[in-house]
Amino acid sequence: VGTEAAKGTNKELLVIAHRGASAVEPEHTFPAYDQALEDGADYIEIDLRKTADGELIAMHDDRVDRTTDGEGLVENMTLKELKTLDAGEGQSVPSLKEILGRYGDSVNYYIETRESDEGELIMEEDLLQLLKQHRIPQNQVILQSFSKASINALHDLDPALTLVQLLKKKEVDQLDADKLQDLQKKAVCVGIYAGILDESLVYLIQANGLEVHAYYRGDEREWTEEMLHYGVDGIFSDNPAYLASIAEKR
Ligand code: G3P
Ligand code: CA
Repeated sequence: VGTEAAKGTNKELLVIAHRGASAVEPEHTFPAYDQALEDGADYIEIDLRKTADGELIAMHDDRVDRTTDGEGLVENMTLKELKTLDAGEGQSVPSLKEILGRYGDSVNYYIETRESDEGELIMEEDLLQLLKQHRIPQNQVILQSFSKASINALHDLDPALTLVQLLKKKEVDQLDADKLQDLQKKAVCVGIYAGILDESLVYLIQANGLEVHAYYRGDEREWTEEMLHYGVDGIFSDNPAYLASIAEKR
């Protein structure tokens, strides 16, 4: 199985710490990642953004406003400027270099790439270079993106990468065996919003050689049982302790 956790247990469900243990600690901070690992997450999920001076950092939004005490677009700030901000509990926004330096090959990474607002690919080569520089084993890395162009670029840079194609509702609505067979040439898995998943869709995807990882918005306890019933292969969780406890019981 392409996404089987290198350092996780053999349990079937992959526990992916969404922005770290983001229900427990401020998202995308070291306490959030540390807590996730302590709580049994198989992977820490990292959203990437790029600063004005070209550094990859961990942040979901394009602006710093929601998660820090600053305001403005990440792409307009240097790393030095960004590092002055408080991302919660006095923590700074971690750069990808810092994350890889801190955890090295002791954890599994599930990293999301994004295009620039102008639709340009801006992070794929830098990301692969950083992973290489930090000697992160390839079987401990999953790369995900909503951007098909990014997934294609990553595959072209290294066909051995484990890639996850995130799909928007419109794309999910149009999924069929042909589209899945096409996706399967580059990706091992698709990531889909829990609210639009159902049992037959999960079956269709898996029957075409892809795994399914579900993400959600809001209280995950409202979704988890349903997702397990549908047989998804992994879940992005804001509270890995909760999800890991359920996964253990299966
Ligand atoms: O990467 C899976 C999930 O995180 C996608 O949603 O918006 O939280 O990045 P988002
Ligand atoms: Ca994400």
